[in-house]
Amino acid sequence: MPEPKKILILGATSAIAERWARLRATRGDRLLLVGRDPGKLSIVADDLRARGATEVLVAESDLADTDGAPQRFASFLERLGGVDVALVAYGVLGNQADAQADTDRLEQGLRTNFLSAAIWCELVAGALETAGAGTLVAISSVAGDRGRRSNYAYGAAKAGLSVYLDGLAHRFAGTPVTVVAVKPGFVDTPMTAHVQKGGPLWATPERVAEDIERAIAKRRPVVYTPWFWWGVMLIIRNLPRMIFNRMNI
Ligand SMILES: NC(=O)c1ccc[n+]([C@@H]2O[C@H](COP(=O)([O-])OP(=O)(O)OC[C@H]3O[C@@H](n4cnc5c(N)ncnc54)[C@H](OP(=O)(O)O)[C@@H]3O)[C@@H](O)[C@H]2O)c1
Repeated sequence: MPEPKKILILGATSAIAERWARLRATRGDRLLLVGRDPGKLSIVADDLRARGATEVLVAESDLADTDGAPQRFASFLERLGGVDVALVAYGVLGNQADAQADTDRLEQGLRTNFLSAAIWCELVAGALETAGAGTLVAISSVAGDRGRRSNYAYGAAKAGLSVYLDGLAHRFAGTPVTVVAVKPGFVDTPMTAHVQKGGPLWATPERVAEDIERAIAKRRPVVYTPWFWWGVMLIIRNLPRMIFNRMNI
């Protein structure tokens, strides 16, 4: 039996994070689940214990709020006894029309999806650098690959996060530390509850969790999930503006 890994999940009530945590629980890992809703955290924790996790700890924390982030992060590490793999999963989709109409909502979205996420990623990176090993995984989005009228507030934040992770991967290239940027397409989770679903572009959170696990094992700096989004976004990024401007996306 391999030694249980120490797993830190920031945004552990996310459907994608929860499915990935299940994969880790069945391997007998130790997990610290961080989220803002204690009720949901406790349900996820009980489920992971039942699935075989060696230990599951929880910490209530509003992750968009970065006041005292270094001290809070230090307390997470102290409780977990270090970290082997950290997943930064939390995020909000928000609404583009609201972001345009209300700068407070725009700021809140940017703070949640980019500013705070970059700060937690930097804190994880520092810990992994000190330990000389480990993996940081953060969930960005294909939405960050090109600004579109329907969701550029969310997309810009994810673009910022993707570039931040790119920089971290570059910083740790050739070292035992791994940085993985996950770029899902459309995933059937509570975040997309209001969107009409179905069709070949939609994936389950289980599928995304499996792709995350494979990307960690293969030490991939960027993973599009499912894989075909790599091709879709290659086309979208390279569409000439004249054609792109005519598309209602
Ligand atoms: N679903 C998709 O189609 C899709 C596509 C591309 C990328 N993503 C990204 O995938 C990640 C996971 O999303 P998901 O699809 O699994 O959706 P989800 O189930 O709705 O998860 C989002 C999670 O973020 C948490 N969260 C939001 N703000 C927070 C805060 N201030 N502090 C702590 N936790 C906070 C939410 O907590 P509460 O439960 O307390 O609200 C929720 O658990 C997100 O980063 C999202 O942007 C999703």
